[in-house]
Amino acid sequence: MKCFVGYVTKTGTTKEIAQRVGEVLASRGIDADVAAITVDRDLRAYDRLVFGCPVNGMKVLPDFATYLGGYAAPAGKPVDLFIVSYMFEKGRALWRKAIRGEAERVKALAGAKSTEVFGGRIAGPLPGFARFIFGVPGDMPADIRDWEKIERWANSLADSMLA
Ligand SMILES: Cc1cc2nc3c(=O)[nH]c(=O)nc-3n(C[C@H](O)[C@H](O)[C@H](O)COP(=O)(O)O)c2cc1C
Repeated sequence: MKCFVGYVTKTGTTKEIAQRVGEVLASRGIDADVAAITVDRDLRAYDRLVFGCPVNGMKVLPDFATYLGGYAAPAGKPVDLFIVSYMFEKGRALWRKAIRGEAERVKALAGAKSTEVFGGRIAGPLPGFARFIFGVPGDMPADIRDWEKIERWANSLADSMLA
């Protein structure tokens, strides 16, 4: 079982999550390549595909969406997605709804089996006005990645790959 875990990142958070997913898959005996997404990688070499991207402006990065529609879906392999967001879990309902909608949009673009949303990391505390706009509590840590959730998800992928 050979799997590609591809990611897009701006500040490294999504890369680290992808690496953790790859480690869990490897610990389950799955041959997992983890790397930034590039169009020259031949996806036909893999049995399963996992792709991750951060949310910026309540959307995935445009290149990610282009890649899913143009390369990932046509490869015809089972795809699972994760997107990384700071506002999804505690932000205002309006933003949570927007991110949920984006998760559904990219799922359809890739023809993916599943899309999971993980909490991410920001560089430092948000200014008060931004916390207000996004509805983010003042005591929320800059890094809200839930490694147990990430590992649980990766293990559930491994279960489905080995079934
Ligand atoms: C310019 C910028 C815009 C962002 N916009 C959003 C957003 O609209 N919604 C959200 O939930 N998180 C947003 N975030 C937070 C990031 O998506 C999140 O923290 C993620 O961990 C960053 O991933 P990366 O390190 O792989 O780039 C933004 C971060 C940056 C730097």
